[in-house]
Amino acid sequence: MAMEPKAQKFIPVASPALIGNEKKYVLDCLKTNWISSIGKYVTLFERAFSKYIGVKHALTCSNGTVALHLALLALGIKNGDEVLCPTLTYIATANSILYVGAKPVFLDCQKDTWNIDPAKIEEKITKKTKAIIIVHLYGHSCDMEDILKIAKKHNLYVIEDSAEALGSKYLLAGRQGKGKMCGSFGDIATFSFFGNKVITSGEGGMVVTNNDELAKKVALLKNQGMDTNKRYWHPVLGYNYRLTNVQSAIGLAQLENIGKFILKRRRIAKMYSRYLKNIEGITLSLEKDYTFHSYWMYCILIEKEYGVDRDRLMSLLEKQGIQTRPFFYPIHTMPAYQALHHYGLDVSEEISRKGISLPTFYDLSEDQVKYIAHQLVRLKKDIIKDKQGAEYIVKSVDSGDEKKLVSFFEVIKKHNLNNFFHPHSFDKKTAKKIVDISESGKRDLYYLVLDNKENIAGYFMLRGFDEGYFVPSFAIVVHPDYMNRGIGKQITIMAIKICERLRVGKMMIKVYEDNIVAQKIYRSLHFTFSKSDKKNELVGRLNIR
Ligand SMILES: Cc1ncc(COP(=O)(O)O)c(C=O)c1O
Repeated sequence: MAMEPKAQKFIPVASPALIGNEKKYVLDCLKTNWISSIGKYVTLFERAFSKYIGVKHALTCSNGTVALHLALLALGIKNGDEVLCPTLTYIATANSILYVGAKPVFLDCQKDTWNIDPAKIEEKITKKTKAIIIVHLYGHSCDMEDILKIAKKHNLYVIEDSAEALGSKYLLAGRQGKGKMCGSFGDIATFSFFGNKVITSGEGGMVVTNNDELAKKVALLKNQGMDTNKRYWHPVLGYNYRLTNVQSAIGLAQLENIGKFILKRRRIAKMYSRYLKNIEGITLSLEKDYTFHSYWMYCILIEKEYGVDRDRLMSLLEKQGIQTRPFFYPIHTMPAYQALHHYGLDVSEEISRKGISLPTFYDLSEDQVKYIAHQLVRLKKDIIKDKQGAEYIVKSVDSGDEKKLVSFFEVIKKHNLNNFFHPHSFDKKTAKKIVDISESGKRDLYYLVLDNKENIAGYFMLRGFDEGYFVPSFAIVVHPDYMNRGIGKQITIMAIKICERLRVGKMMIKVYEDNIVAQKIYRSLHFTFSKSDKKNELVGRLNIR
């Protein structure tokens, strides 16, 4: 089915879905007076979580950052040690290494999964390397088999920063077998329940492990280092990193719905992949055969071929009510880390410049996904060439073009060029209307073809719904100064491409019977013509796929 996007209100990049027992459990905390960090919901949340991940111990804590701090402390990582971690991740991953006085050593990522590249790990291992923190970025699992092999060979602890990967799995047994949850592979793993995560407790975190000793240490450290058998005796330096009963109550209610959340996220990802797959210059999120992806965020890369710079695109989308977020800056480029010695992090730098996350959350509707995809089609800029090889930019009309469009309409009137069936008079009012429709992101598309001095060489439209479903009628006019350069055909090819991007199956075009030149162009592109109900007019149709 083709896209029929509807205008939308503001679409945030993330939004929690409090659709279960959240209110009931929180009210229970209030009614029973158990609102601090002791209470049944803390235990229930921890139990349910360890069962879900398939690990022996799960320990709540205040957020995902302190979860990492606790994990490193429990493993005894300290001053003088080196810890490997990706540079393309959230700052908390590396900050936790500095918190314990160790040195982060940054790893580069893979081009396709954006996760650490196992092939580039060993070159960064020294005698001081004690651990590796891996991050399942945006929910795509790391290549665990290879990473675990390297860790074993070099006797490194593995910490899985699974903040973004709750519900994601890594598929074992020759990569076809049953999956095991992300967070169940390392010596210890951490999660975050910040408001934008797969499940939230407002703020919150969890440390999980199968190791009894590590679990004991985490329990001690998160509770001020207080001896469990001797109140107010603190044998070690500890922290107050506890999660409250109220937060745990929300977390538990959220966890009860995790199956639904993951299913919906995967559906959203499938829709995005389907609607965006024809747009050159957009690289899509992928799911490697060893991964069951929870799609914490559906992400895309904006390549050069898209024609619009990543940051500019993000601000244009924001103008259309679509919030996005850029990829993380590589951590080695941040002020606190620049002084450390780094090398070989080029892929991460490139991916970081290109990536954006698109809205991904439980309540996102298919109409909203279509609207977002339609905007990504509309905002793309293309290049066409005339017979002499001169280049022209093809772009959709926006408010900056209004004046140009008015003068172009003067030319059309003067040369009596209304043989392209424009339905409105060529005046200022129409120019304004076209700008408004184009910018509103509704279904009709209006384009300009600009030469290298930004003069209008051509104008075309794809106007929809003529036959009750989405068959855009294509209309084109070439500026008289730019005729006989082969632009008309190139524009028509471009329009067909735009229809492909929109997954439109058919196009329609009208032409006067005596306009042999235009008919020749359209026929060469496989339009077939029949008589219209109006005299002297033919209707051309094209089945695109
Ligand atoms: C990879 C990664 N690690 C750690 C964290 C820290 O979690 P929190 O924000 O709960 O402290 C996040 C949070 O966004 C994250 O994405």
